[in-house]
Amino acid sequence: MADVTPPNMLQERPRTPAGLLSNAEKDRLIERGFLGLYRWYTARSQETRNWNPDRSFDWRALNKDLPSELVTVLQGFFAVEQYAPDFTSNLVHLVRRSHGRSHFQLRWGSEEEKHADAWENAVLFSGQRSPEWIAEYKERLKSQTWELPFPDAIHNLVYTVFQERATQLNYLNMMKIAQGKSDKPHLQGFSDPVLAKVAQTIAVDEAAHYNFFLEGVRMYLYYYPERTLNAIKNVISQFSMPAATLVPDWEGFFETVYRAGIYGPRDFQRDVVQVAFRNMGIESRKALEEGIRKTREVPDFEGGNFKTTAIWDTFDYGAVEGDVRRLHVKIQDYEKEIGFDLYDPTEFVTNPEVPVKDHQAADD
Ligand SMILES: [Fe+2]
Ligand SMILES: [Fe+2]
Repeated sequence: MADVTPPNMLQERPRTPAGLLSNAEKDRLIERGFLGLYRWYTARSQETRNWNPDRSFDWRALNKDLPSELVTVLQGFFAVEQYAPDFTSNLVHLVRRSHGRSHFQLRWGSEEEKHADAWENAVLFSGQRSPEWIAEYKERLKSQTWELPFPDAIHNLVYTVFQERATQLNYLNMMKIAQGKSDKPHLQGFSDPVLAKVAQTIAVDEAAHYNFFLEGVRMYLYYYPERTLNAIKNVISQFSMPAATLVPDWEGFFETVYRAGIYGPRDFQRDVVQVAFRNMGIESRKALEEGIRKTREVPDFEGGNFKTTAIWDTFDYGAVEGDVRRLHVKIQDYEKEIGFDLYDPTEFVTNPEVPVKDHQAADD
C-alpha cells in the first residue's frame, strides 16, 4: 500500500490565488486540529472511559440461557472487533506522518482491543461455546487479514465515521434487547443486566470514536469541500461493515442481527446515513449527488484550486464552520487548562473561499 498520508495528499500543488489559503496551509491547520483533538480525546478517554473488559463486569452472573440467536450475534460482534490489530496497523501506517492522527489510531486501537476481549468474554460466559470452539474460531478469523476499504486517507476517514456510527447502533440495540425492551417475539421476556452493561459501555466508546472522526471530516469539509463531499458520496455508495468478507457465515450473522431488530438496511439509511449527514451539514443523499453533479458542470480555472463556488451550495457550510469553530474552542480550553497556550496555542483560521452568508441573503 502506498504511503498516502495526510496532510500532504495532493499530488500537485497549484499556485494559490492571492487571499486564499494554500493547500500546505490548509493541511497544517487540519493537522493542528487533529493534534489538539487527539490530546483532548486521550485525557477524556482516560478520565471517563477507563474500563476493563475483565474486571468491569460480573461475568459469572451472565445468563446461561441467553437465546441462541443472541449468542450468534455476540460471536459476530467479537469476530469483527478481534480484527483490531489489523484495523489499527493499517490505519496507523496510512496516517503515520500525522502526529495527531497516528497517535490517535493507537489509542483508538487500544479501545477496540478492549471491545474484542469484552465480546469474547460474553461468548465464553454464555456457556454456549466451548473454549476449544472459541480457540478454533479465532484461529480461523486470524488466518485472514483485514485490508483498508479504500486506498487513501480521506476516504478511510469518511468510512470510519459511518462505520463507527453503525457499530454504535448495533450495540445500543443489543443493549435494549438485554434490558428486556425488544419488540421481537423470539427475544421478549428476557433480560440480562450484565450484557446490557457490556453493550452500553462499548456503545459509549463507539460514540466517542464517531465524534473524533466526525470532527476530522468536518475540518476536511471546511477546508477541502469538494474532495470531501466526493469521498462521502463514494463511501456511502458502497458501504459494508468491516470484515464482512472475512467472518465465516457472515450472511447467517447478518440475518440474525436483522431479525433481532438490531441492524439492517433501513437502520443504515435512517440512523447512520441521515444522522451523519445532519452532523456534516448535508441535507440528503440526493442533495449531495445533485451538488456534486452541478460542480462538475462548471468549467475549471486553469491552474487554480478554486474550481467553482457551486460546491458551497451542496452542504450547510455555515453549520460546518460553526462546528469547526466550536472544536477549536474546545481544544483551546483544554490547552489553557494544561498551559500549552503559553507556548503554541491552536488557532482557528477561517477559509476565505467560504462564501459570506450575508451577501447570499442580499442576492436572494
Ligand atoms: Fe469497537
Ligand atoms: Fe469504534
